[in-house]
Amino acid sequence: MLAIVGAGGRAVAAEGAAEEKGTVPAAEGAAPAKLIVSPPVLQNAAETSIGVGFAVSAMANGYVKISSSPDMKDARLVKCGGYRVTGMDDKFILVRLTGLDPATTYYYTIGADRIDYQHGYSMKIVGSEEDPRVYSFRTLGAAALSSFCVVNDTHCRPEAFGPAVDKIAELAPSCVVWDGDACNSHETFESLLPVFYTPEIARVDYAACQPYLFVPGNHDYRGLAARHLERAMMFREMEERPPRFWDLGRNFAVRCGDIALIGLDTGEDKLDTRPSQAGLFNFAPYRLAQRDWLAEVLERPDVKSAPFVVAFCHIPLHDDNPHAHPGDVEGNGDGKYWHDFALWQRTCRNLWGPLFAKHGVQAVICAHQHRYRYDAPTEDRPWAHFVGGGPTFGPQKKADGTVTEDPSRFPTVIEGKVEDGKLRITAHDLYHRTIAGSYLFPPRTHP
Ligand SMILES: [Fe+2]
Ligand SMILES: [Fe+2]
Repeated sequence: MLAIVGAGGRAVAAEGAAEEKGTVPAAEGAAPAKLIVSPPVLQNAAETSIGVGFAVSAMANGYVKISSSPDMKDARLVKCGGYRVTGMDDKFILVRLTGLDPATTYYYTIGADRIDYQHGYSMKIVGSEEDPRVYSFRTLGAAALSSFCVVNDTHCRPEAFGPAVDKIAELAPSCVVWDGDACNSHETFESLLPVFYTPEIARVDYAACQPYLFVPGNHDYRGLAARHLERAMMFREMEERPPRFWDLGRNFAVRCGDIALIGLDTGEDKLDTRPSQAGLFNFAPYRLAQRDWLAEVLERPDVKSAPFVVAFCHIPLHDDNPHAHPGDVEGNGDGKYWHDFALWQRTCRNLWGPLFAKHGVQAVICAHQHRYRYDAPTEDRPWAHFVGGGPTFGPQKKADGTVTEDPSRFPTVIEGKVEDGKLRITAHDLYHRTIAGSYLFPPRTHP
């Protein structure tokens, strides 16, 4: 086995083709296609659990071997899926690692068994493949490094995602929040592969050693496949929340050093009642349920004791502009608004905003508008509000062949880091390679 990870699990240093053993059915004379077709993607970063996903090219069963030692001594093998049957799949292998220690480094490898499946009485494993690389990650928790990065609105566009991933590699945070609109609209699960597992960027192993937390955007619900994104990117561990909130699989409240990170989901940017939504969306009660969940997690001892609390959601919770659609109005409000979809989410602001204020949440980091903005706290809204940039990278060619460049549109990586007892949030402009804004927040004063 080839091995080696970079210090702190940051870099994957050794390259190597996956090794396949066993008898593999293949066309005569043809080598079997590689079974494991992506590096692992660390998802649902938490204190005592993490998800590992990877892509396969054929029906397979997969596993992760995990060890606390880089030589993989006493490695534990964890299969995909849960109890009863394993998570056999022909595209995505999802393995959930639980029972981990907080703020601890682990080493892991991935493997898959190729399955010849005929029917319920005829199935067999016909080959196995292991990625020869040893990867690593560090769990979150109060003792983790107090640092995070945010990437958003990547929309499956490598020209924006590549530089974001490069910047994140340079900043090496404890975790990355992917703040929605990773997708566009996806009818097939196949089309989700380049979104999460095989992006056309140099660092295709962007999340192999770098834990991510996913916050859905409106586009992440569009299309037959996106409606069930959990087949590609698993829901969070149920143990993280009380039973009545088990369906809130995308919400998180997790300590990242001195910062408590709170993940919320604003959902679609159109009302459930819009005729074009065909009665097939149910976000109104979802937003309400998240209010109840939020009220509870903000009282949780690990969150309550955090000097800093930062919340994340895709659609902004504030906009000064009276023409910005607030999401709770049908159509374009008889011409009052520029668009007929939400540029910000007044319903979520009304549900969640008072709780942010009550608990001294310092900042809310959003996305969706594809234009970076910082809204300083006000008396009404004591939390700072950031809107991350979008996927536009440099001059754009329009349909009529003309080329335009809007200097206010650029992708961002928003970085949060505790330094000298204060939280600094910095927005990195990835196109102009400058700092778009940098703000310092003192520890909150607890109510
Ligand atoms: Fe977007
Ligand atoms: Fe969006």
